[in-house]
Amino acid sequence: MKTLLFLLSPLYLLATASFITPAEYAAQLYKNPRGIGCHKCHGDEGEGKVIAKYKHKGKERNFSAPKINSINYNEFYRALNKRKSGMPRYFLTDKEVVALYLYLHRNDKKKK
Ligand code: HEC
Repeated sequence: MKTLLFLLSPLYLLATASFITPAEYAAQLYKNPRGIGCHKCHGDEGEGKVIAKYKHKGKERNFSAPKINSINYNEFYRALNKRKSGMPRYFLTDKEVVALYLYLHRNDKKKK
């Protein structure tokens, strides 16, 4: 957690400099990350969702994006920095990855 806070501090400065809160910044990034919005595939809260249904050899199949709001930071970071099938490549900075991660976990305390 200490490292997360440390990584977040420049983000906070960045966000305050442009008159939006870090939370607003992260929300915008999640929906508009220099490419197709994460929510289009992973859902508004990162809960995961079915993107398309199709038939393959007569069988119903789903193309879906996994739930991403309960994986740990290292897995999250790794997934965004290596090629994954079905997942666009984003080239996000470390700060952006942290912002997205915190965005998806912003309600964690409330849930418990
Ligand atoms: C076009 C649909 C699509 C978009 C847009 C998309 N993803 Fe994904 N994402 C996927 C699919 C499909 C997978 C599963 C890939 C696999 O398992 O190989 C995935 C996997 C992931 C994983 C790994 C999950 C795990 O359990 O290993 C993370 C983290 C992730 N996406 C985060 C994001 C973030 C953050 C964004 C926005 C910057 C985003 N994705 C945008 C489709 C998408």
